[in-house]
Amino acid sequence: MNVKIEPAILSYAADGRLYSPAFDDVYFQPEDGVAESSYVFLQHNNLEERFKGLRAGDVFRIAECGFGSGLNFLLTLDLWRRTASKGARLYYLSFEKHPVQKTDMKEIHAYWPDYAAVSQELLTQYPAAVKGFHRLDFGSAQLQLCLGDITEMLPQIKTQIDAWYLDGFAPAKNPAMWREELFRHMARLSVQGSTVSTFTAAGTVKRGLQAAGFHVEKTRGYGKKRDMLTGTYQRDIPKTQTTGSAIVIGAGIAGASCAYALAARGMPVTVLEKAGEAGNAASGNPVGVVYPRLTAAVSAAGDFYTHAFCHTTRILARLENEKLWRNSSVLMLDGGDAAAAKRYTGMVKSTALPEEMLRPVDRKQATEIAGIPLASGGLYYPDAGLVAPREFCTSLLEAFPAQVTLRSGAAAEKIMRQDGVWHVLDAAGEILAEAEHLVLATGPSLTGFSETDFLPLRYVGGQISYLPENAASRKLKAVITQDGYFPPAVEGVHYTGATFEKLRAKAETHPVTEKGHRKNLTMLGGFLPAAFFDGVTPEDLQGRAGIRTSVPDHLPVVGKCPVAAQWLEDYAGLSYGQLTEKQIDLDKAEVHDGLYLCGAFGSHGMTSAPLAGEMIAAQICGDPLPVSEKVAAAIHPGRFILRALKRNQS
Ligand SMILES: Cc1cc2nc3c(=O)[nH]c(=O)nc-3n(C[C@H](O)[C@H](O)[C@H](O)COP(=O)(O)OP(=O)(O)OC[C@H]3O[C@@H](n4cnc5c(N)ncnc54)[C@H](O)[C@@H]3O)c2cc1C
Ligand SMILES: C[S@@+](CC[C@H](N)C(=O)[O-])C[C@H]1O[C@@H](n2cnc3c(N)ncnc32)[C@H](O)[C@@H]1O
Repeated sequence: MNVKIEPAILSYAADGRLYSPAFDDVYFQPEDGVAESSYVFLQHNNLEERFKGLRAGDVFRIAECGFGSGLNFLLTLDLWRRTASKGARLYYLSFEKHPVQKTDMKEIHAYWPDYAAVSQELLTQYPAAVKGFHRLDFGSAQLQLCLGDITEMLPQIKTQIDAWYLDGFAPAKNPAMWREELFRHMARLSVQGSTVSTFTAAGTVKRGLQAAGFHVEKTRGYGKKRDMLTGTYQRDIPKTQTTGSAIVIGAGIAGASCAYALAARGMPVTVLEKAGEAGNAASGNPVGVVYPRLTAAVSAAGDFYTHAFCHTTRILARLENEKLWRNSSVLMLDGGDAAAAKRYTGMVKSTALPEEMLRPVDRKQATEIAGIPLASGGLYYPDAGLVAPREFCTSLLEAFPAQVTLRSGAAAEKIMRQDGVWHVLDAAGEILAEAEHLVLATGPSLTGFSETDFLPLRYVGGQISYLPENAASRKLKAVITQDGYFPPAVEGVHYTGATFEKLRAKAETHPVTEKGHRKNLTMLGGFLPAAFFDGVTPEDLQGRAGIRTSVPDHLPVVGKCPVAAQWLEDYAGLSYGQLTEKQIDLDKAEVHDGLYLCGAFGSHGMTSAPLAGEMIAAQICGDPLPVSEKVAAAIHPGRFILRALKRNQS
């Protein structure tokens, strides 16, 4: 399977229309595109009236194939902002096999000055051509770009769609897309009254939609086009809406990310934090490095970290806080080690990241990028950089003040569900908060509840050292990582490290020691110029230490909380060879209703927690997941129960 995506190659036909050589078909006449798209997609899905009829808390979801230049999206967003009721939410899901590059998009959008402001909003967030899911935010509207073939991606989507835009080139030019499966999946995701419109009037499309359960009508096409099709889904499938509020326990990067993603969907969230402030435990270092943890072969882990990295850097840019994020870039050195170099080559091949976001560099290039002499080359991540973790947590928690309430000094001791509501109690048995949805994001204390004690959490202590900047280290421009990491100084200090110490038992704190500083200095001395450490004495250094929480497969734990005892019973067949993991439908597995887990981020929480938070919010609110099916299964909290059963195979 090709993990990379091929961007669109565009040209203009003789009559001025934007043309795709790959499909031998035209997108639209740029000057006329607005009128045509408005007519075919917005008017024929009756959007203005439907937007006006929404109530606060309602969500309206549109799915489109394909995104192309984003014109349909710009028009829909503009209409949404002019007409939708306050408090309603738009979710726009769009599939694109060959994404238009940002520079081309900018040129095309210049034809539509009336939409310059929304175009700018889109261009600012528009992703590089990275295969997979991308979530972009536009206030009360959210866009999920699914970069890849709709025939591979739509089957992974679980949600409800109110309106469909079928805009994927003419069926005669693109028969691989307009297949029966497309209509079948549209039906799977439709509710009674869902509508569809398309520029084509092809008989195969009409019959396909009818067979899937749509009532289809031919109507007048735009301009010179004689006909087009519209349809309405007929079957008696009701639309479901998520209601209520949420509690998040823990205000580290995991909890803050969950609260942010829920609040962005308009949900009221209470965050309970036992410490006096957010971002105090592992998430409280002065600096954290944000870059993806890739794998040498194609894997769910590599896919997760690739997209987590894209998602986090997009959020950091959106939070627009200078103190928060420094896009200094990251150089991951191979140290001249042939095995490491081979692994890095594998990483470049097996990630969806394009060359503009990740490329191998030799020693000379690395030295130029870093601004200091280096002994080896490695991998270069130009979009990576440094985050201020505590600031990150508070920025996320403060981004939606109307939705998020942080209660510090609130230690959750017990959770229980009664009549569809979760109650969180303190040690005295007093109720701290109540809500329909509950997320546990308690770092090392993730197993501190009877519902979660099946998790095989591991605890790894870690220490960073604060090194004073000097004349030699001041020249450093990029974060250097090899065995540890060394970032450019922040206000005269390099916050560098880190040590790894496996702990035998659960711990919540870890002491800063001179031994820890010595370990850091030895490790860093292995790949940095000796002049960086001139005059540094370990006994005088300051630092910070904390606990990383992880699980044996080094992926996080994200999603619905399984009822462990029930899984052991239901899937006992795994132990006797009577059942295979493939036969298990995780969506039907027994879970504690309304309970979600978000943790075990190991050494990469700053990069990976925001996407995890997004995934949990999507699950709670019924939106499509922002990760592939494989990734969702790979980070599912129940995976350990299934593995334990398989290990017991007799
Ligand atoms: C030395 C070191 C260096 C690191 N460097 C990096 C780096 O460069 N880049 C990177 O991406 N990651 C780095 N990490 C890892 C990163 O810090 C973690 O992955 C991340 O902070 C974990 O976040 P969390 O929210 O899951 O847990 P925590 O940050 O531990 O947050 C959990 C929160 O839950 C609260 N809590 C717990 N129990 C309760 C309860 N019962 N009631 C109420 N509140 C509760 C805690 O007080 C805490 O605030 C580093 C970690 C260490 C230790
Ligand atoms: C006419 S253009 C869409 C125009 C777009 N709606 C706009 O507003 O600019 C058709 C798009 O469908 C995409 N496409 C074609 N086949 C596809 C498939 N199988 N999966 C996803 N996208 C596909 C093409 O790459 C192209 O960008």
